[in-house]
Amino acid sequence: MEKKYKNFKIVIKENYDSTSIVVADIIAGLVNAKSGGVLGLATGGTPVGAYKQLIAMQAAGKVDFSHVTCFNLDEYHPIAASNSQSYKYFMKDNLFNHININPANTHIPDGMAEDVQAECAAYEQKIAAAGGIDLQLLGIGSNGHIGFNEPASAFSRETNYIALEASTIEANARYFNSPDEVPKHALTMGIGTIFAARRIVMMITGAAKANIAEAAILGYISPQVPASILQLHPDVTFVLDADAAKNIIPRIT
Ligand code: PGA
Repeated sequence: MEKKYKNFKIVIKENYDSTSIVVADIIAGLVNAKSGGVLGLATGGTPVGAYKQLIAMQAAGKVDFSHVTCFNLDEYHPIAASNSQSYKYFMKDNLFNHININPANTHIPDGMAEDVQAECAAYEQKIAAAGGIDLQLLGIGSNGHIGFNEPASAFSRETNYIALEASTIEANARYFNSPDEVPKHALTMGIGTIFAARRIVMMITGAAKANIAEAAILGYISPQVPASILQLHPDVTFVLDADAAKNIIPRIT
Protein backbone atom coordinates (compact mmCIF):
# COMPACT_ATOMS: atom_id res chain seq x y z
CA MET A 1 0.00 0.00 0.00
CA GLU A 2 1.24 3.47 -0.83
CA LYS A 3 -0.58 6.50 0.47
CA LYS A 4 -0.07 10.22 0.35
CA TYR A 5 -1.15 11.39 3.80
CA LYS A 6 -1.07 15.08 4.68
CA ASN A 7 2.28 16.25 3.25
CA PHE A 8 4.10 12.93 3.49
CA LYS A 9 4.09 9.51 1.93
CA ILE A 10 3.43 6.26 3.79
CA VAL A 11 4.47 3.01 2.12
CA ILE A 12 3.38 -0.24 3.80
CA LYS A 13 4.82 -3.57 2.71
CA GLU A 14 4.09 -7.09 3.79
CA ASN A 15 7.27 -7.93 5.64
CA TYR A 16 10.84 -6.95 6.50
CA ASP A 17 12.32 -8.10 3.20
CA SER A 18 9.86 -6.27 0.97
CA THR A 19 10.28 -3.15 3.14
CA SER A 20 14.06 -3.41 2.77
CA ILE A 21 13.72 -3.59 -1.02
CA VAL A 22 11.65 -0.39 -1.13
CA VAL A 23 14.21 1.45 1.00
CA ALA A 24 17.16 0.16 -1.06
CA ASP A 25 15.41 1.22 -4.28
CA ILE A 26 14.90 4.75 -2.94
CA ILE A 27 18.58 5.01 -1.97
CA ALA A 28 19.80 3.55 -5.29
CA GLY A 29 17.43 5.91 -7.11
CA LEU A 30 19.09 8.94 -5.51
CA VAL A 31 22.60 7.60 -6.15
CA ASN A 32 21.80 6.92 -9.80
CA ALA A 33 20.03 10.24 -10.32
CA LYS A 34 22.71 12.45 -8.83
CA SER A 35 26.40 11.89 -9.42
CA GLY A 36 28.15 13.01 -6.23
CA GLY A 37 25.01 12.57 -4.13
CA VAL A 38 25.25 12.84 -0.36
CA LEU A 39 23.60 10.14 1.74
CA GLY A 40 22.80 10.21 5.44
CA LEU A 41 23.01 6.66 6.80
CA ALA A 42 21.81 4.88 9.92
CA THR A 43 22.87 1.92 12.05
CA GLY A 44 20.75 -0.53 14.04
CA GLY A 45 18.97 -3.72 13.14
CA THR A 46 16.43 -2.04 10.88
CA PRO A 47 18.54 -0.95 7.87
CA VAL A 48 20.63 -4.14 7.58
CA GLY A 49 18.26 -5.69 5.03
CA ALA A 50 18.31 -2.56 2.87
CA TYR A 51 22.13 -2.54 3.01
CA LYS A 52 22.17 -6.19 1.90
CA GLN A 53 19.97 -5.24 -1.04
CA LEU A 54 22.27 -2.37 -1.99
CA ILE A 55 25.30 -4.69 -1.87
CA ALA A 56 23.51 -7.10 -4.21
CA MET A 57 22.42 -4.27 -6.51
CA GLN A 58 25.96 -2.99 -6.79
CA ALA A 59 27.28 -6.49 -7.50
CA ALA A 60 24.70 -6.70 -10.29
CA GLY A 61 25.82 -3.36 -11.74
CA LYS A 62 22.57 -1.57 -10.85
CA VAL A 63 24.12 1.10 -8.66
CA ASP A 64 27.55 2.72 -8.39
CA PHE A 65 28.76 4.30 -5.14
CA SER A 66 32.11 5.53 -6.44
CA HIS A 67 31.04 9.20 -6.33
CA VAL A 68 28.86 9.02 -3.23
CA THR A 69 29.65 10.80 0.03
CA CYS A 70 27.91 9.70 3.19
CA PHE A 71 27.45 10.82 6.76
CA ASN A 72 26.25 8.57 9.54
CA LEU A 73 23.83 9.84 12.13
CA ASP A 74 25.73 8.99 15.26
CA GLU A 75 28.42 7.16 17.19
CA TYR A 76 28.83 6.05 20.77
CA HIS A 77 31.31 7.90 22.98
CA PRO A 78 33.76 6.77 24.11
CA ILE A 79 34.31 3.86 21.74
CA ALA A 80 37.25 2.87 19.56
CA ALA A 81 36.62 2.46 15.84
CA SER A 82 38.15 -1.03 16.15
CA ASN A 83 35.53 -2.09 18.74
CA SER A 84 33.10 -4.43 16.98
CA GLN A 85 30.20 -2.55 18.64
CA SER A 86 31.22 0.84 17.25
CA TYR A 87 29.01 2.22 14.52
CA LYS A 88 32.10 2.75 12.39
CA TYR A 89 32.74 -0.99 12.57
CA PHE A 90 29.05 -1.72 11.92
CA MET A 91 29.00 0.37 8.76
CA LYS A 92 32.15 -1.24 7.38
CA ASP A 93 30.88 -4.69 8.22
CA ASN A 94 27.35 -4.23 6.90
CA LEU A 95 27.94 -1.95 3.91
CA PHE A 96 31.16 -0.09 3.17
CA ASN A 97 33.46 -3.14 2.89
CA HIS A 98 31.11 -4.66 0.31
CA ILE A 99 30.46 -1.72 -2.05
CA ASN A 100 32.65 0.51 -4.19
CA ILE A 101 32.42 3.58 -1.97
CA ASN A 102 35.63 5.53 -1.36
CA PRO A 103 36.37 5.11 2.39
CA ALA A 104 37.56 8.74 2.44
CA ASN A 105 33.99 9.77 1.58
CA THR A 106 32.41 7.92 4.53
CA HIS A 107 31.97 10.01 7.65
CA ILE A 108 30.98 9.09 11.19
CA PRO A 109 31.49 11.18 14.32
CA ASP A 110 34.73 10.23 16.08
CA GLY A 111 33.87 8.05 19.07
CA MET A 112 37.28 8.76 20.61
CA ALA A 113 37.23 12.55 20.20
CA GLU A 114 38.78 14.21 23.24
CA ASP A 115 37.05 17.51 22.61
CA VAL A 116 33.50 16.41 21.88
CA GLN A 117 32.19 19.94 21.26
CA ALA A 118 34.89 20.55 18.65
CA GLU A 119 34.10 17.20 17.01
CA CYS A 120 30.38 18.09 16.84
CA ALA A 121 31.15 21.47 15.26
CA ALA A 122 33.59 19.88 12.79
CA TYR A 123 30.96 17.30 11.79
CA GLU A 124 28.41 20.03 11.03
CA GLN A 125 31.02 21.83 8.94
CA LYS A 126 31.85 18.69 6.97
CA ILE A 127 28.18 18.16 6.13
CA ALA A 128 27.85 21.78 5.04
CA ALA A 129 31.05 21.58 2.97
CA ALA A 130 29.64 18.52 1.16
CA GLY A 131 26.60 20.61 0.17
CA GLY A 132 24.20 19.16 2.74
CA ILE A 133 22.48 15.77 2.76
CA ASP A 134 20.37 14.78 -0.24
CA LEU A 135 18.74 11.73 1.31
CA GLN A 136 18.72 10.79 4.99
CA LEU A 137 17.83 7.23 6.01
CA LEU A 138 16.41 6.88 9.52
CA GLY A 139 15.30 4.16 11.88
CA ILE A 140 13.37 4.96 15.02
CA GLY A 141 14.04 3.98 18.63
CA SER A 142 11.23 2.49 20.68
CA ASN A 143 11.25 5.79 22.60
CA GLY A 144 10.91 7.80 19.36
CA HIS A 145 14.53 8.82 19.08
CA ILE A 146 16.15 9.60 15.73
CA GLY A 147 19.89 9.34 15.64
CA PHE A 148 20.56 9.42 19.36
CA ASN A 149 18.28 12.40 19.94
CA GLU A 150 16.42 11.11 22.96
CA PRO A 151 13.02 12.43 24.13
CA ALA A 152 13.68 15.86 25.60
CA SER A 153 12.05 19.16 26.43
CA ALA A 154 13.31 20.75 23.20
CA PHE A 155 14.47 19.74 19.72
CA SER A 156 18.25 19.89 19.33
CA ARG A 157 19.56 21.97 16.47
CA GLU A 158 23.05 20.73 15.57
CA THR A 159 25.31 17.73 16.06
CA ASN A 160 25.64 17.32 19.81
CA TYR A 161 26.98 15.20 22.64
CA ILE A 162 24.26 13.47 24.62
CA ALA A 163 23.68 11.08 27.50
CA LEU A 164 21.84 7.93 26.41
CA GLU A 165 18.52 7.09 28.05
CA ALA A 166 18.35 3.98 30.19
CA SER A 167 15.86 2.46 27.71
CA THR A 168 18.31 3.00 24.82
CA ILE A 169 21.16 1.42 26.78
CA GLU A 170 18.90 -1.52 27.53
CA ALA A 171 17.75 -1.84 23.89
CA ASN A 172 21.33 -1.77 22.61
CA ALA A 173 22.71 -4.07 25.33
CA ARG A 174 21.73 -7.01 23.11
CA TYR A 175 24.84 -6.32 21.06
CA PHE A 176 27.19 -6.12 24.06
CA ASN A 177 28.17 -8.72 26.66
CA SER A 178 26.27 -6.78 29.32
CA PRO A 179 24.41 -3.45 29.71
CA ASP A 180 27.43 -2.16 31.68
CA GLU A 181 29.53 -2.27 28.53
CA VAL A 182 27.21 0.02 26.54
CA PRO A 183 28.78 3.50 26.37
CA LYS A 184 26.68 6.02 28.29
CA HIS A 185 27.14 8.87 25.83
CA ALA A 186 27.05 9.48 22.10
CA LEU A 187 27.65 12.05 19.41
CA THR A 188 24.63 12.56 17.20
CA MET A 189 23.46 14.77 14.38
CA GLY A 190 20.92 17.17 15.84
CA ILE A 191 17.25 17.19 14.93
CA GLY A 192 18.02 20.34 12.95
CA THR A 193 20.84 18.59 11.07
CA ILE A 194 18.51 15.73 10.17
CA PHE A 195 15.66 18.05 9.26
CA ALA A 196 17.92 19.94 6.85
CA ALA A 197 18.23 16.84 4.63
CA ARG A 198 16.46 17.47 1.34
CA ARG A 199 14.70 14.13 1.50
CA ILE A 200 14.09 11.75 4.41
CA VAL A 201 13.20 8.06 4.41
CA MET A 202 12.26 6.48 7.72
CA MET A 203 12.11 2.68 7.89
CA ILE A 204 10.08 1.05 10.69
CA THR A 205 9.58 -2.69 11.06
CA GLY A 206 8.22 -5.14 13.60
CA ALA A 207 5.22 -5.18 15.94
CA ALA A 208 7.33 -3.85 18.82
CA LYS A 209 7.52 -0.52 16.94
CA ALA A 210 3.76 -0.27 16.18
CA ASN A 211 2.95 2.12 19.04
CA ILE A 212 5.89 4.43 18.48
CA ALA A 213 5.26 4.41 14.70
CA GLU A 214 1.71 5.58 15.31
CA ALA A 215 2.84 8.26 17.77
CA ALA A 216 5.59 9.52 15.45
CA ILE A 217 3.57 9.57 12.23
CA LEU A 218 0.06 10.45 13.41
CA GLY A 219 0.54 11.83 16.92
CA TYR A 220 1.32 15.24 18.38
CA ILE A 221 4.52 16.90 17.24
CA SER A 222 6.58 17.01 20.38
CA PRO A 223 10.23 16.74 21.43
CA GLN A 224 9.03 13.95 23.72
CA VAL A 225 8.66 11.94 20.48
CA PRO A 226 11.62 13.33 18.53
CA ALA A 227 10.65 11.58 15.25
CA SER A 228 7.28 13.40 15.24
CA ILE A 229 9.00 16.53 13.88
CA LEU A 230 9.35 14.67 10.56
CA GLN A 231 5.62 15.27 9.99
CA LEU A 232 6.61 18.85 9.10
CA HIS A 233 9.37 17.96 6.66
CA PRO A 234 8.62 18.82 3.01
CA ASP A 235 9.79 15.47 1.58
CA VAL A 236 9.47 12.52 3.92
CA THR A 237 8.54 8.90 3.19
CA PHE A 238 7.73 6.46 5.98
CA VAL A 239 8.30 2.86 4.88
CA LEU A 240 6.78 0.29 7.25
CA ASP A 241 6.08 -3.39 7.32
CA ALA A 242 2.55 -4.54 8.12
CA ASP A 243 3.43 -5.35 11.73
CA ALA A 244 4.81 -1.89 12.46
CA ALA A 245 1.87 -0.30 10.61
CA LYS A 246 -0.89 -2.22 12.35
CA ASN A 247 -2.16 0.80 14.35
CA ILE A 248 -1.73 3.17 11.42
CA ILE A 249 -3.56 1.20 8.72
CA PRO A 250 -7.05 1.64 10.23
CA ARG A 251 -6.44 5.36 10.75
CA ILE A 252 -5.40 6.21 7.19
CA THR A 253 -7.65 3.95 5.14
P1 PGA B 1 16.90 -0.64 15.59
O1 PGA B 1 17.30 0.78 16.20
O2 PGA B 1 16.91 -0.48 14.11
O3 PGA B 1 18.00 -1.56 16.06
O4 PGA B 1 15.57 -0.96 16.13
C1 PGA B 1 16.68 1.90 15.70
C2 PGA B 1 17.12 3.12 16.49
O5 PGA B 1 17.40 2.99 17.70
O6 PGA B 1 17.14 4.21 15.90
